[in-house]
Amino acid sequence: MEWYKRVKIPLAELKKLTPNKKVKIYLKLEKFNPTGSIKDKIAIEMIDEMEKSIDLNKKIILEASSGNTGISVAWYSAIKGYKSVIVVKPNTSINKLRLIKLLGAKIIFSSNPRETAEKLSKNKKYVWLNQYVNESNVQAHFKRTAKEIVKELKRVDVLVSAIGTGGTIIGIGKFLKKKFTKIRIVGVIAKDEIEGLANLKEYKLESMPIYVKNKEFVDKIHKVSFTTAKKMVNLLAKKEGLLVGLSSGAVAWIALKYAKKLKKGTVVGIAADGIERYLNQIFCAPGGIRTHDPPVNSRALYH
Ligand SMILES: Cc1ncc(COP(=O)(O)O)c(C=O)c1O
Repeated sequence: MEWYKRVKIPLAELKKLTPNKKVKIYLKLEKFNPTGSIKDKIAIEMIDEMEKSIDLNKKIILEASSGNTGISVAWYSAIKGYKSVIVVKPNTSINKLRLIKLLGAKIIFSSNPRETAEKLSKNKKYVWLNQYVNESNVQAHFKRTAKEIVKELKRVDVLVSAIGTGGTIIGIGKFLKKKFTKIRIVGVIAKDEIEGLANLKEYKLESMPIYVKNKEFVDKIHKVSFTTAKKMVNLLAKKEGLLVGLSSGAVAWIALKYAKKLKKGTVVGIAADGIERYLNQIFCAPGGIRTHDPPVNSRALYH
């Protein structure tokens, strides 16, 4: 099997932050994927699945993402030798844009990437992956992420995952609820704005078809603010030496809350990416409250 389908994703135990030694808390560090986020797994699954019915050599792979998925799709398209186009918001972090370009994808700027991708997809030269409805998004986590957890842990009482498209939580939830019948599957969304996550303003849960179709696999959803997520990122770095991204900080915050309620057991949180990707946005000012870069002009991307 190819190296990128075999990468080992570590489970890091939070030994210092655990409130009770009889409760083990683990963060699954998905930043160890080839491009640094959990989305590599879905890019592989979506493109491998699509290849079975479409000759992708004659097409351009299209995806709308201002987050990690764009980088992962550009990456896997490069490996496969396919052309790709990523539609992003103009305020996407400059380092993400540089990575997408470095991997050879074309970038299209739009204030509404999903809408623009939908319009472009009417042209037959494009195939739109559309992670928001693509069943392979769920399958990637059902077949891989969930199995990786079961391979390492004999028992899981609570599983915490952030919700963006819902692919991670539903894929893992479907698998783990069969394996551990009493498990609680807990989702995290943003109270205000955390990149990649559903929030109360713009990307609401009701607009996530994967989540809406599979709600029964999620027992509870919590909202976490940007400030709390950032506080947790700081704490994880300083106490545990873990460099995780903002959505992972939000997940860890909720994982700790559940750990406090348990007498004994195991809590697992999915840490979708690392903080490296957000350094220019998060630690840019004393308050660190800029969640996006200023809009860039495509000419600023030199290659
Ligand atoms: C940083 C980050 N964390 C978590 C998620 C949530 O993953 P999912 O889309 O599988 O719900 C995303 C999704 O885009 C993300 O970018």
